[in-house]
Amino acid sequence: MNSPMKIAVLISGNGSNLQAIIDHQHKHPEHYEVALVISNRPNAYGIQRAQKAGIKTLAIDHTNFADRTSFDQAMQAELDGHGVDLIVLAGFMRILTEEFTQHYLGKMLNIHPSLLPKYTGLNTHQRALDSGDQLHGLSIHFVTPELDGGPVILQVLVPIEKDDNEDSLANKVHEQEHVAYPMVVEWFAEQRLELKDNQVWLDQNCLQDPVILNDLHPE
Ligand code: GAR
Repeated sequence: MNSPMKIAVLISGNGSNLQAIIDHQHKHPEHYEVALVISNRPNAYGIQRAQKAGIKTLAIDHTNFADRTSFDQAMQAELDGHGVDLIVLAGFMRILTEEFTQHYLGKMLNIHPSLLPKYTGLNTHQRALDSGDQLHGLSIHFVTPELDGGPVILQVLVPIEKDDNEDSLANKVHEQEHVAYPMVVEWFAEQRLELKDNQVWLDQNCLQDPVILNDLHPE
């Protein structure tokens, strides 16, 4: 049997998606192993979550670096030094340089709380409410140099109800993220998922559109 794929998770804050990825690993240790967690914020709660799970953590504080390039180079040295096969951005709130994203092209995933290409950037839940949208959700995509712009692998739809506010909607999206992200990480670890010529391939099929799912439930 192949050994589990080594992955690194990059965070900036709470790390609830990191937790979901760790919990999934504990249930299915054969697929992937979170070998390293890096936070650009030393006080991120996600660091404590990783330490509790016995995972190596590094705080690489971006405020100690003169520019984006030197910060990204420091992260790259650690990631390459640890020999990870996949980088998972989970609430990592830093813009990455083109050099960094090219270096890991096809080996880096991001989760974003909107139905991309709608609402790149911040405050996605409030912006969906303000626009009167009836559908919101999340997107998981390969990372390319364009911010929140890489080819989308999967979207989960979250209907907006009449009485939703920013918090209730954020909670609903988060709940779906926690099921969807470990699933897609597992697809990659099982070598079912690939980026080729800027297109997503799943199970040897080139996806014309992202996989669209509704209402995922925890295992
Ligand atoms: C998640 O909702 C994720 O989609 C979002 O940050 C949150 C992190 O939560 N990411 C982005 O907005 C990236 N552009 P978590 O720290 O609890 O996993």
